[in-house]
Amino acid sequence: MITVTNMTASDVPEIAALEKMCFTVPWSEQAFYDELDNKLAEYFVAKSGGKVVGYAGVWSVSGEGGITNVAVHPDYRRRGIGSTLIEAMIKSARAEKLDLLTLEVRKSNIAAQGLYEKYGFVPIGLRKRYYSDNDEDAIIMAKPLE
Ligand SMILES: CC(C)(COP(=O)(O)OP(=O)(O)OC[C@H]1O[C@@H](n2cnc3c(N)ncnc32)[C@H](O)[C@@H]1OP(=O)(O)O)[C@@H](O)C(=O)NCCC(=O)NCCS
Repeated sequence: MITVTNMTASDVPEIAALEKMCFTVPWSEQAFYDELDNKLAEYFVAKSGGKVVGYAGVWSVSGEGGITNVAVHPDYRRRGIGSTLIEAMIKSARAEKLDLLTLEVRKSNIAAQGLYEKYGFVPIGLRKRYYSDNDEDAIIMAKPLE
């Protein structure tokens, strides 16, 4: 069974390890500890049998939620965990009366784009050469919240 809870300090080492597994330019462990003190940030952690298998974060600024990261452990993908995390973020954003959720995603990241499209995110723009590791463009996607 998958549970989703808010991130606590004891989750951070596992989250940072997962971040390294999932991203070419990972956030540091300290960056996640710092997020615990960031009043604008909310992080959701998906666990299976007590083990962290996914996480997602959002920053709420001026009525809009900017999704910072979404990741699922490679061994646990295509089982609906990414969807569960997005649903948790959408529910929280609605409760906070945010107008919009936005995010950036690599042009080549078809899996993530598929996940976001499933939840009504649409492309609204492009950030040219946004990712410094390979100069890849970012697609900006947004979901208006009614
Ligand atoms: C993107 C990611 C979070 C998806 O997590 P997941 O738990 O596998 O997602 P789900 O099982 O909930 O899949 C939801 C939908 O996403 C799409 N999707 C997920 N993986 C996909 C893939 N490999 N190829 C195509 N579409 C995919 C599908 O539409 C899927 O719906 P379906 O299973 O009904 O077809 C995961 O692949 C991941 O951690 N990737 C590495 C980190 C990353 O790129 N994060 C996003 C940064 S913007």
